[in-house]
Amino acid sequence: MKARNTSDAAGNEPRPRTDERLRAGDSPLPRPAGPERPRRLRRSIGVRRMVRETRLAAADLIYPLFVEENRSEPYPIASMPGVARLSVGDAAAEAERACALGIPAVLLFGIPRTKDPGGYGSYAPNGVVQQAIAAIKDRVPDLIVITDVCLCEYTDHGHCGVLNRHKQPQPYAALPAEYVLNDETLAVLQRIAVSHAVAGADIVAPSGMIDGMIAAIRSALDEAGFADRSIMSYAVKYASAFYGPFREAADGAPQFGDRHTHQMDPANAREALREAVLDCREGADFLMVKPALAYLDVIYRLRQQYPELPLVAYNVSGEYSMVQAAGECGRLDAAAIQWEITTAIKRAGADLIISYAAPALAHSIANQD
Ligand code: PBG
Repeated sequence: MKARNTSDAAGNEPRPRTDERLRAGDSPLPRPAGPERPRRLRRSIGVRRMVRETRLAAADLIYPLFVEENRSEPYPIASMPGVARLSVGDAAAEAERACALGIPAVLLFGIPRTKDPGGYGSYAPNGVVQQAIAAIKDRVPDLIVITDVCLCEYTDHGHCGVLNRHKQPQPYAALPAEYVLNDETLAVLQRIAVSHAVAGADIVAPSGMIDGMIAAIRSALDEAGFADRSIMSYAVKYASAFYGPFREAADGAPQFGDRHTHQMDPANAREALREAVLDCREGADFLMVKPALAYLDVIYRLRQQYPELPLVAYNVSGEYSMVQAAGECGRLDAAAIQWEITTAIKRAGADLIISYAAPALAHSIANQD
């Protein structure tokens, strides 16, 4: 049997591999004589630019939009300066503006005129998101349209699925009343995803952390003739207080209870790997970690473990809102902080970043030189 490290044809001794040398505490670089001066590489803006390891680009960003049925004027979200609920027409105009800045995709959230226990508005053929998809595709056909697939904005109770309620014939007496029923919810998610695909969505993004949602949506899309549409899985979504401002923006706060029986415990990171492997197996085309800033370790782990799939990070409403609030009261330079945070998310391993600051970031990237 051949030894792994043999001398070469010229008889030179094999060189230990760099990682072996590092483990042995040995620098892989020859040490220069005299003191080391890493500051040489920071001497001028030109050098700093040359050696920059992470470059944020407009092409890395995804811009969320809130579209409200029966709205005419924009409705600004008080806790998220610069963000508003828009009419279908204004959402298409905003999508066009984003596209002109080099942003490749928008992520749509809908606020229906009426809500009901089953969340019918989420898959209504002429629902608000279905209308917005068509309007955006009509105005900017090349812009990628991603849609949130969840029930919480459409149900009167504000939960992300079908609830265990006494009115129904109830095989679930063992489950608590109002528990989010898993498999009943899957059937609704399938209808939502197919209705978005029919309207022209490129990518559907299920956000409910319902077990089996990726496999269920994949098979429904395939059966309906949409094998070409992708699924961006909110694979690792934590039960986070950082979603507070979003719930005002999308009017999707739970009217009672919380989301802890389906979203993940913020204390867990190993469990994130389990969620990710399941979604990979079920056919996810993209994996997402959400929130982003407080979960950079999770982004890093997923990047290491699943390098095959594009990794998305959602810099959520509360993260945006904190920076804006600190900027407004003069404590921080909000634009600089936003750039630093977004770059850090990319440095941790995200390929794509969902950001409410996407247009401002794209604008500043374009005007850097
Ligand atoms: C659920 C959904 C939520 C967010 C995105 N999709 C809210 C939740 O899970 O309660 C939060 C996004 C943000 O805070 O920016 N449809």
